[in-house]
Amino acid sequence: MSIETKVFGVTKNGETVHSYTLTGKNGFAVTLIDFGATVKNIIAPDRKGELADVVCGYDRLSDYEDADGYQGAVVGRFGNRIGKGRFTLEGKDYTLYCNDNTNHLHGGRVGFSHRVWQTEIRESGDADRVIFSLVSPDGDEGYPGTLRVTVEYCLADGCELVISYRATTDKTTVLNLTNHTYFNLAGFDSGDVLEHMLYLDADRFVETDAELIPTGRVLPVLDTPMDFRTTKPIGRDFDLTYEPLKLAGGYDHCMVFTDTLHDPIKSPRAIVTEPKSGRTLTMYTSLPCVQFYSANFMSNPDFPFKGGYTQKKQHAFCLETENMPDSMNHEGFTDCVLKAGEEFTSVTVYRFGN
Ligand code: GLA
Repeated sequence: MSIETKVFGVTKNGETVHSYTLTGKNGFAVTLIDFGATVKNIIAPDRKGELADVVCGYDRLSDYEDADGYQGAVVGRFGNRIGKGRFTLEGKDYTLYCNDNTNHLHGGRVGFSHRVWQTEIRESGDADRVIFSLVSPDGDEGYPGTLRVTVEYCLADGCELVISYRATTDKTTVLNLTNHTYFNLAGFDSGDVLEHMLYLDADRFVETDAELIPTGRVLPVLDTPMDFRTTKPIGRDFDLTYEPLKLAGGYDHCMVFTDTLHDPIKSPRAIVTEPKSGRTLTMYTSLPCVQFYSANFMSNPDFPFKGGYTQKKQHAFCLETENMPDSMNHEGFTDCVLKAGEEFTSVTVYRFGN
């Protein structure tokens, strides 16, 4: 195991951005950049040992700065949407910057995905780590409280990326930290993901409106295209006449895991298999939900991916582990509030196989 550090580029503000490559076994390797605490490459072997880069992203730092899509980044303070960018906390009203129609998305104008994080490297025999940290000041993007965040990426067991999030605040605030990597297990440059087989341990999903803001209802997946409790191809029920899929242009929903008394370390919440290469992705998480996104907005011709590959809709999928979007505005939604003196922690594991 080893970590290789290089200069990746310089931001428009003159900050130097580095890349960190962690190498595991059988050619498995992960490259991170400190801009956005982003996952830039994941090289994974298929069943014949052939390597492919299974995540989307760019060759140039300026594309990470300018493009939307949050490729590979950590999003925050609040992943996904907050309706009208408004909420009330301890009797006080807050208004956030609205960057998605009239709503707040993924942390606002300059969210955590667009900042250069501090970096610490820890190499050890069997588990190399890159620890990114940042301080988000009180009032940042309209959010209360000084938030101190660390995101640790650990390459464990030679083929497993373990992402551990920690945050503290000096004033009551809200947060929803996630990672926005777009996966394609056949290789990011190999076409759509509709034939990937997906199992999702989710029995409900958060209903959203035409602006993808939660309506407040959490619906059962039973007898709908949202049901992945029995493994099926992502595209099998990709039926855009089904209202929730029609409104989102595909899958873009907060899927709610089946029970809360689950041991996140022992049983996976998602298993994805790409039949031709045999590559698999198994996901474990301590969080209660995942945004399953079939990359319906991934179609910007001005921002080709690595090697010049044109980005196209549904050529990747995201499994963004999370609390419920807009949760502070709905009774009965998962808790996104963090108080002074408390520590927020969560862990998500992406394990690759073949
Ligand atoms: C999330 C959202 C999507 C979209 C992408 C970024 O997954 O749920 O609607 O905004 O981020 O393009």
